[in-house]
Amino acid sequence: MRILKCRICGKNQFIDLFSLGKQPPANNFLSSTEQEVEFYPLDVRMCDHCKLVQLSDRILAEKLFSNYNYIPSVSKNLDFHFQLLAKQIWKRYKLKSDDLIVDIGSNDGLLLGHFRSLNAQILGIEPASNIAGLAKERGIPTINSFFNATLAKQLIKTYGKAKIITATNVLAHVHNIKDFINGVEIFLDEDGVFIAEFPYLADLIQKNEFDTIYHEHLSYFSLKPLVYLFSNPGLNLFDVETTSVHGGSIVIYASKKEKQVGISLKNLLAREEEFKLHDKSTYSDFFKRISSLASKLREHICAQKSMGRKIIGIGAAAKGTILLNFTGLDSTYIEYVVDNTPYKQGKFIPGVNIQIFPEGKMYTDKPDIALILAWNHQEEIISKHSQLLKDDRKFIIPIPNLKIIS
Ligand code: TYD
Repeated sequence: MRILKCRICGKNQFIDLFSLGKQPPANNFLSSTEQEVEFYPLDVRMCDHCKLVQLSDRILAEKLFSNYNYIPSVSKNLDFHFQLLAKQIWKRYKLKSDDLIVDIGSNDGLLLGHFRSLNAQILGIEPASNIAGLAKERGIPTINSFFNATLAKQLIKTYGKAKIITATNVLAHVHNIKDFINGVEIFLDEDGVFIAEFPYLADLIQKNEFDTIYHEHLSYFSLKPLVYLFSNPGLNLFDVETTSVHGGSIVIYASKKEKQVGISLKNLLAREEEFKLHDKSTYSDFFKRISSLASKLREHICAQKSMGRKIIGIGAAAKGTILLNFTGLDSTYIEYVVDNTPYKQGKFIPGVNIQIFPEGKMYTDKPDIALILAWNHQEEIISKHSQLLKDDRKFIIPIPNLKIIS
């Protein structure tokens, strides 16, 4: 459905930036190749007023998130990242064991598990029932619901107010962001802090990460529109940090009490201006770069295939669905993709009909080339599977530029 108003400022003037064409919902893996695939537009635009870069259309959240495939626990590096984040928050805010920590979009409880190890009171809120179930099995108290102001009002009656509210890799997925932030304000203690981590637009543009554009990601955040979002008196955005997860992310900090805006926030805002992050020309240049990158990758894979090489993919990431569909690399070229997420194994990548298998398959098959679709985990994947590189086999990293590892 077409989005009529900007979700941050409510204005309806948009600047069209570029289009990735019609693509399937990236995480909707198919049970069989007979299953019908739905394609929806992936058009990117910018609000002319607050400068939020966003998709023009959305698929209802209930359709995308009620049963979900994304589980960060499959990555050791992400687990380590969350462990550090939990420790850092615990120390910075001098938390105590009776302080309530709420994680919105808590997934299988990976981050909350680290807070539990620090003896905190924890509560997860997770809309996907299959994943909320996994968290409960791990003993992580989890409310299976979307988060909004109405839910926040109900929850404070039972749980009281939260000292810390976290949301990692969630904000970009939320359509009604004002209601979400309103809910955070209701749920947060007077001296509590809201901490959100999400992919950063400047990284996406600078590193050609076009495949991270998919229907679940409704917003592509820079700091500028976030300053607008937090300009109401309820919550103040006071600090920002950059992190390397998911191709480059930022962590924002907001509270009711803290009014002092940190230097890192001012610096990052200045860098966005320097980089012309809100100029239309930045996006036409980006689109030229990614079109050329997609052609190069396709030509390389086609040439290898015509020489009889066996080519597979590693990591059935959502971004892989977009990369394969945008470059037109289907099961004619990529024999299969391996992935260590049990939910994905046996299924097919929508639009390209490539089947997903456990990682073990590539050890018996020994393909000549493996395209690393989950390039955000490349260090972990390469170190885990480096023995496969023997005998002239190769890995290809597609983003930010075609890189061949032998
Ligand atoms: P993910 O990081 O969740 O990206 P996206 O948001 O685009 O889906 O995807 C990573 C995928 O890669 C996930 O399905 C798990 C898989 N994976 C492996 O198969 N092996 C590995 O060693 C790692 C780290 C990830």
